[in-house]
Amino acid sequence: MNRIAVLTSGGDAPGMNAAIRAVVRAGSEKEMKMFGVPNGYDGLLAGTFRKLLARDVGGIIQLGGTFLGSSRSEQFRQPAARERALKILRDNSIDALIVIGGNGSQIGAYELSKLGFPVVGIASTIDNDVYGSDITLGVDTATNIALEAIDRLKVTASSHRRAVLVEVMGRECGYLALVCGIAGGAETVVIPEVEMNPDDVTRDILSAYRRGKSHALVVVAEGAAYNASELTKAIYEHPDMAGFTIRTTILGHVQRGGVPSASDRILAARFGVAAIECIAQDIHGVLIGIVNGQIVRTPLADVATRKKELDLSLFQLAKVLAT
Ligand code: F6P
Repeated sequence: MNRIAVLTSGGDAPGMNAAIRAVVRAGSEKEMKMFGVPNGYDGLLAGTFRKLLARDVGGIIQLGGTFLGSSRSEQFRQPAARERALKILRDNSIDALIVIGGNGSQIGAYELSKLGFPVVGIASTIDNDVYGSDITLGVDTATNIALEAIDRLKVTASSHRRAVLVEVMGRECGYLALVCGIAGGAETVVIPEVEMNPDDVTRDILSAYRRGKSHALVVVAEGAAYNASELTKAIYEHPDMAGFTIRTTILGHVQRGGVPSASDRILAARFGVAAIECIAQDIHGVLIGIVNGQIVRTPLADVATRKKELDLSLFQLAKVLAT
């Protein structure tokens, strides 16, 4: 394995640049020729390969986003497009591909590996929903960004004796909301994994008011059955609503754009080097992740077909601390 390509795909995540840097430097150290593919799978289908030397990835470790660019490629979902990608990779004498991205990207990686091409995935998304990794690259930074906003929102909420509903990202997964809720001191966390309706949320807010709290913080996962806007509307219409007035903030993409935390940079370094180690040992069709603090390789077949379960003991923790 001598000519290795790397791409970033799906939603960008803080630490992707640090992972590209690690991949390129670890590969170069093993005298592999490294290539970056701009704009994810779309760039692959365009047949663009940019030679990357160790010096080309200098000064990017601290940058959010991905200097290679990313895409949510609609075309790559088509079997014919993947066959075309395979031909493009072979025509350019690429021996292996490293895919840095979340669930959708790793499904793409699996499909390509099923065609017989050596692919190694790196678990990277702020959603932390990839099977095969306790923590994905980017979620620590996204949590810290959301938390900074939450801390600020609590200050103004307390001044006005308000309840604040903060919606965070996470797609179908409540992890980001849950850890933000615990770290931010939420009265209630609303996540897709636990059934909760507007009555429950209203009751929690009222209860906080009656207990004399100066504010109530509700962290809502975007994938919950009721999002923050729907909950706000329902709470206002609720006959029992009293006490706090409500304000709602949807954090959105601000959570993705930050400077990667130390923890994400270190994870990126470990993931990147481990991906190159895999390729050097002729191991592929796997995802690099971290489980119980150890770097592990999980078959892409499992990553593509299995759902990562949320640790619901964290939900209980959030509840206990809301008293
Ligand atoms: O997967 C990362 C993520 O930020 C999700 O949390 C969110 O639902 C989605 O991407 C937003 O996608 P886009 O950037 O395409 O709007």
